[in-house]
Amino acid sequence: MASVTSLTDSVQQHLASALTATRPEAAGADPLLRRSDRADYQANGILALAKKAKANPRELAAEVVAHVTTGELLADVEVSGPGFLNLTIADRAITANLAARYADDTGRLGVPHAGNPGTTVIDYAQPNVAKEMHVGHLRSAVIGDAVVRLLEFTGETVVRRHHIGDWGTQFGMLIQYLEEHPHELDHKAGQVSGEEAMSNLDRLYKAARRLFDADEEFKTRSRRRVVDLQAGDPHTLAVWQKFVDESKIYFFSVFEKLDMEVRDPDIVGESGYNDMLAETCRLLEESGVAVRSEGALCVFFEDVKGPDGKPVPLIVQKSDGGYGYAATDLSAIRDRVFALKADTLLYVVDARQSLHFKMVFETARRAGWLDGVTATQLAFGTVLGMDGKPFKTREGETVKLEDLLDEAVQRATSVVREKAGKVGLSEAEIEENGRYVGVGAVKYADLSTSAVRDYKFDLDQMVSLNGDTSVYLQYAYARVQSILRKAGEARPVPHPELELAAAERALGLHLDQFGETVLEVAAAYEPHKLAAYLYQLASLLTTFYDQCPVLKADTAERTENRLFLVDLTARTLHQGMALLGIRTPERL
Ligand code: ARG
Repeated sequence: MASVTSLTDSVQQHLASALTATRPEAAGADPLLRRSDRADYQANGILALAKKAKANPRELAAEVVAHVTTGELLADVEVSGPGFLNLTIADRAITANLAARYADDTGRLGVPHAGNPGTTVIDYAQPNVAKEMHVGHLRSAVIGDAVVRLLEFTGETVVRRHHIGDWGTQFGMLIQYLEEHPHELDHKAGQVSGEEAMSNLDRLYKAARRLFDADEEFKTRSRRRVVDLQAGDPHTLAVWQKFVDESKIYFFSVFEKLDMEVRDPDIVGESGYNDMLAETCRLLEESGVAVRSEGALCVFFEDVKGPDGKPVPLIVQKSDGGYGYAATDLSAIRDRVFALKADTLLYVVDARQSLHFKMVFETARRAGWLDGVTATQLAFGTVLGMDGKPFKTREGETVKLEDLLDEAVQRATSVVREKAGKVGLSEAEIEENGRYVGVGAVKYADLSTSAVRDYKFDLDQMVSLNGDTSVYLQYAYARVQSILRKAGEARPVPHPELELAAAERALGLHLDQFGETVLEVAAAYEPHKLAAYLYQLASLLTTFYDQCPVLKADTAERTENRLFLVDLTARTLHQGMALLGIRTPERL
């Protein structure tokens, strides 16, 4: 058993044939179906059709109704308002559809793959070497991870690229300092924690900076180091590698805390494109896409001007011959399109870099590197503190990502602990759940608002049991597991012959929309819409509990059918949360 046709699709098809049967000129017309409060679905497409056919819309609607067969799928159809159709799905069709999803042994709950999958190279989770990760890096990692999971679920081939900042002039100073103080990073890999690694780097950075600012000769030696580095001098590269390795220990520890898989071969930082930079510039200059201006190699744009009205170019090569961020990104495009065969390039990067990407994409397009390729920046907004200003510590420093995660886990653990007695959780389970709830809270807060919007980092709200939080969803899942455990002999079994209560129908119709939601969310890179779907699912489940006893239902069949409904709801919650990168503990 594999993918299941959704009720929406079935109704859509049914209506489309009724339209064709009514009037030949209506063939192919969109019935404009949507979920509705009045009935299960409302179709609004007849209005436009009537206008085109110069017919009375209510009369036309009545004609269409005459061609709709009620029975298996539709229990009722009627004309309403100026010429809408109100459609009610048969209870039997709802249960049978859900039963097919439940029976899907591929674990996909009947969700089909996307129509024409391709290859997406996604650039996300890109911290900088020898620097602390900040909340912006958190956003890129969390959103990127969810998008990877969503795309892979739809059947897309996904290549991950962590474009870390591991190149540039600041490394001259660092390398030179380590060169002159050779034992400062001596330790065996694996023997140092992420936190220690970061504090080593921080100490080195500060010491190097101090020397650089105070000592002219050190400055000169540092500048020479940059040249050696860019020329690929083996010894200089070996010292540089030490910084990269030390940073990776730190990065991996943060990603692990985030409960997120980042694989070493997918880390291809700015340095990875070093060999391509000269060629990239040559191609741009030869094709005339880039021109020399005051010694620098520049690309100009009609619509990009500074405050003084003068055009602001994208600088591909500086007048001193050095290459910057743009040259690296343009080379990465060539690699991703021509070597990795991407047909979609996706960049999960702060909205403050939008101008950069606009210019980079436009340049690549002019150079002919993006023919048949879609390049998109999934831009995200700023994380704000409670004061509505960019998130900083009281001392005005950027907040350390680990501290933030640790605090979220701490708060979550106390929330879990409060309820742990009732469920009988061991200390180890409390701690494990605390981690999943805490990290889930941070991820969910990030994923549940549209990415481009700024959001307030409010830990109290994030771990609240009420409202649109991951904890609420996690509890909804765990509550179902608890009912299934308490059910004893009674098992979840669908019974399509049973009439459904209003709350059951509402829950069932929403469950049916999971597949469509996931496909839409993946295609538009909008995880917040999946979060909204899941929150509504949990809310419908809460209403269902209020109105429909499960274990104490009037008949054994009804108990079985309700167990089946809640079990499918739990599986859908689990699957949906997993796509967001959030765990659902079994007992909470
Ligand atoms: N390392 C950069 C930063 O911390 C983000 C890199 C984004 N990706 C890219 N291809 N430019 O801001």
